[in-house]
Amino acid sequence: VQLFVPRDAAALAAGADEVAEALQAACAQRGVTLNLTRNGSRGLLWLEPLVEVVTPHGRIAYGPVQPEDVPALLDDAHLLTGGFMPEGDVSPSPRPSPTRGEGAMHSKPLSPCGRGVGERGQHTSDDMTVVAHPLRHGVTEQMPYLVMQERLTFRRIGVTDPLSLADYEAHDGWAGLRKALTLTSAELLHEVTHSGLRGRGGAAFPAGIKWKTVAHAHAAQKYVVCNADEGDSGTFADRMVMEGDPFMLIEGMAIAALAVGATQGFIYIRSEYPHALAVMNEAIERASAAGFLGENVLGSGRTFHLHTRKAAGAYVCGEETAMLESLEGKRGIVRAKPPLPALSGLFGQPTVINNVLTLAAVPFILARGAQAYRDYGVGRSHGTLPFQLAGNIKHGGLVEKAFGLSLRELIYGFGGGTRSGRPVKAVQVGGPLGAYVPESLWDVPLDYEAYAAHGAVLGHGGIVVHDDTANLAELARYAFEFCAAESCGKCTPCRIGSTRGVEVMQRIERTAPAGAAPNAAQHAQQLTLLRDLCDTMQHGSLCAMGGMTPYPVLSALNHYPQDFGVAAAPSP
Ligand code: NAI
Ligand code: SF4
Repeated sequence: VQLFVPRDAAALAAGADEVAEALQAACAQRGVTLNLTRNGSRGLLWLEPLVEVVTPHGRIAYGPVQPEDVPALLDDAHLLTGGFMPEGDVSPSPRPSPTRGEGAMHSKPLSPCGRGVGERGQHTSDDMTVVAHPLRHGVTEQMPYLVMQERLTFRRIGVTDPLSLADYEAHDGWAGLRKALTLTSAELLHEVTHSGLRGRGGAAFPAGIKWKTVAHAHAAQKYVVCNADEGDSGTFADRMVMEGDPFMLIEGMAIAALAVGATQGFIYIRSEYPHALAVMNEAIERASAAGFLGENVLGSGRTFHLHTRKAAGAYVCGEETAMLESLEGKRGIVRAKPPLPALSGLFGQPTVINNVLTLAAVPFILARGAQAYRDYGVGRSHGTLPFQLAGNIKHGGLVEKAFGLSLRELIYGFGGGTRSGRPVKAVQVGGPLGAYVPESLWDVPLDYEAYAAHGAVLGHGGIVVHDDTANLAELARYAFEFCAAESCGKCTPCRIGSTRGVEVMQRIERTAPAGAAPNAAQHAQQLTLLRDLCDTMQHGSLCAMGGMTPYPVLSALNHYPQDFGVAAAPSP
């Protein structure tokens, strides 16, 4: 029997290793040969550990699987695969706990010969009736959560063995690099610029323009640095790429190096991502041994050496200049810009700094052509964004879609509403520095400009859902607390302003306790102070940490004034 059990950290946290062990033990006990692949996660996180069984009808998904589900799962898999056990060993499957998964909700007659294996429910045949495993979800590729997506960057993740060079090659791997080696630097820069790819870390700066700045700079040494210090709350797409398709990131970085003339690259990986770090290290070693990295990339005479660095464990080290300081072995404090890192970056040399998702999009662009990527999306937001659904949501996970869908489609069409079953009250889009988006804006297309027009950001694609028990004044206070804890301390508006912000919010909560009439004069004074403080932080801070903390605070105040003890927002 051929099975897939993810090795992704989210699946491991849900018990994937224990399930893999149980499968190995059960197969050994039954005398069944097990061909087990530890793949990346498909991104349907509420179903992890998601076990897939290879059948003549495609890969069949089961989840969330626990070790005690394994015997019944193997019985069920036996029926679907046409039998991997000796005849006579088949016995009706006991029904595992129906409290997990949703199998019991969609019961439908199925045939053990394979008809309808995409469905969940009951097998019937001439000689026996067998209850299908209630955790079975049918053919993985046909699950609506995946069918509705447009996976370009994530097209291989969950499908392949992340560390198999042969698997990567068989699924379009290295096609972009091979194409890039036939192009000049100018042609490469043109391709990336024409694709419309913008920085996926959050700032959405055009990648082609950034690369051009580095390419045209004169220096003996240039660098490509991948920012994998994914610190935004509710985000995990960078991690999934590193753990699920590491060669794609290596390929994207190698192409960037060819385009700008860099010979050294670094991946700065969040310290809380030990699995990603281990997978990237192993992948770099294998890619180097196979000639995709090193002194003579694929015999081209071009050099690109790639290294990983474990990050320092601070949110602010995701800010590009603090990251450079940290990479240079110093404390992660933000540098003033200019000079831009593109001209004076790592060790003072011209440096391309891109997020994981930006670099991971590049192989597709080179392999399929810039226009193929550009054709996705709306307005000036081309391509796709891997959205990450988190917080109080029923079906949290990874949804890669072209720009232009709405938040409502994401949180209800994909996410299924809240996990608590209560109404959604607020959705924070774009990480802890992103705005709280109220229902009146849930139909605004998710594109960079449309969101900016409403004082919001898409950021790195993090979507955190809150139900109607959330108090937005508390969340505004939390934004200041987060900033105070994570501030690098270099500039006054952020270092001092964040602490003053916590105090102002505490006074607002005191002068207008929930449900009580506010002490009007004092309360109004504190609200004015809050807006003044936000104005100072937004316009006076050196980087996005202090500069964007007002986004969650002011969006909470403007869209949920009742939580701040006011009937309507004062001046917006
Ligand atoms: P920024 O707007 O200052 O810069 C964007 C990028 O473009 C930088 O790499 C900058 O060096 C580069 N750039 C700007 N002008 C250039 C030019 N003329 N030539 C070449 N390169 C140029 O934004 P910043 O401060 O780098 O990032 C802020 C964003 O980071 C926020 O929007 C936020 O959403 C996001 N963020 C993401 C986090 C994550 O975990 N992914 C965490 C915290 C913030
Ligand atoms: Fe440091 Fe905050 Fe100023 Fe950024 S805004 S430089 S994190 S003190």
